[in-house]
Amino acid sequence: MRSNKKAIDRKADKFRTSYGFIAACAGSAVGLGNIWGFPSRLGRGGGFSFLILYILCLALAGIPLLTAELSIGKQYGASPPAAFRAIHPRLGLIGLMQVLACFITLCYYCYFGGKLLEYTAAAVGLKLSGPLLWDIIFTLVTGIIVFLGVQAGIERCSRILMPVLVIILAGLCVFSFSLDGSREALAFMFKPDFTFFNADTFSSALTQLLFSLSVGYGCMITFGAYGAKNSMLKPAIAIAAADTIVAVLAALFIIPSAFVCRISPASGPTLLFDVVPLIFSRLTGSQFMIPVFFSMVFFAALTSSVSMMEVPAVMLMQETKLSRKSSINIIIILTILCSFPICISLRVFEAYEFISQYLLICISSVFTCIAAGWMMKKDYSTALGNAPSVVEKSLVILLCFVTPALLLIVPVSVLTGH
Ligand code: PFF
Repeated sequence: MRSNKKAIDRKADKFRTSYGFIAACAGSAVGLGNIWGFPSRLGRGGGFSFLILYILCLALAGIPLLTAELSIGKQYGASPPAAFRAIHPRLGLIGLMQVLACFITLCYYCYFGGKLLEYTAAAVGLKLSGPLLWDIIFTLVTGIIVFLGVQAGIERCSRILMPVLVIILAGLCVFSFSLDGSREALAFMFKPDFTFFNADTFSSALTQLLFSLSVGYGCMITFGAYGAKNSMLKPAIAIAAADTIVAVLAALFIIPSAFVCRISPASGPTLLFDVVPLIFSRLTGSQFMIPVFFSMVFFAALTSSVSMMEVPAVMLMQETKLSRKSSINIIIILTILCSFPICISLRVFEAYEFISQYLLICISSVFTCIAAGWMMKKDYSTALGNAPSVVEKSLVILLCFVTPALLLIVPVSVLTGH
């Protein structure tokens, strides 16, 4: 393989510590997907069936892909197109697909992040309406943190916010276990029942997993380059563990609360917003928890949107030699322009989600597997550091055969309607 000079060489463009690197990657992974998406998809996917398929996908696709992306970043640099081109000149397009998917996702993420802000502000009595206004505020806050850079912005923000998030969520779980409906909810999640074992639940679990791990979006390639000192196996496992723990904690809070409030866990994307106000209103004197909870979700969303904006900004910087400031300004303007149609119709969001999650991510990730499993060879092994050889061999086998096959099921089943 061609070796290339890494583009990210400034000290300020690297994470300062290993903990900072893992916290920033976990901060990217943990977001709306865990707290909003996971419980609602789990509820729709029959609880147990979804959970089992999710864990299977994590082991067979999530962790291998995470190690592959971090390794590509570590070995070849931060911008996905340039990193893929360093593996093979024809693969640049794959990197571009990932950046495009990341940008499309950023557009709807800023819209929902804005909604969350609007909701939180309304809970403390600040009523300013207009989805576009909140969308713009969320996008600008994201842009400012990205502008501050890798160490001062992204790393510092994630190091503080990640542990706070886990502590608050764990507290909420303890609270939900004290409620009457918790037994029913635990049976829904953990009692074997394979009724929902089908292609739909599988696609939902796999796309949710990739979204949740921020894999397929070029994000982990970019962050892998910023944390280039480490071996990439341990961080990948730590990131996957943190992400899964937060998602399961969120479900352990939301699903029992839904049972207590007599709301169907299968009610879909509105689940979080239906359940949270109701459950807190049952506890006298805990109204203040509603804005506290939603601001926690807001901060989780912010560490994710920051990582999402970094990806196209870095690509622009590397490909056009524009300054960091100009690249971020361009991405902010484009994000606002492209998320504006979502404020008019949620159908635009559905189209964005379909194109990015079901097509671009799955197809580009097949090529990530090919690149890491078949083409990188020694470079992949170097990036994994001194991983036990049985682990390394298993990862290579998964990347060469199993993960791509699983990934292809999603676009094939949506395009053929099965
Ligand atoms: N993983 C984030 C979440 O679960 O909300 C979403 C995300 C962040 C997707 C960064 C893609 C990305 F590049």
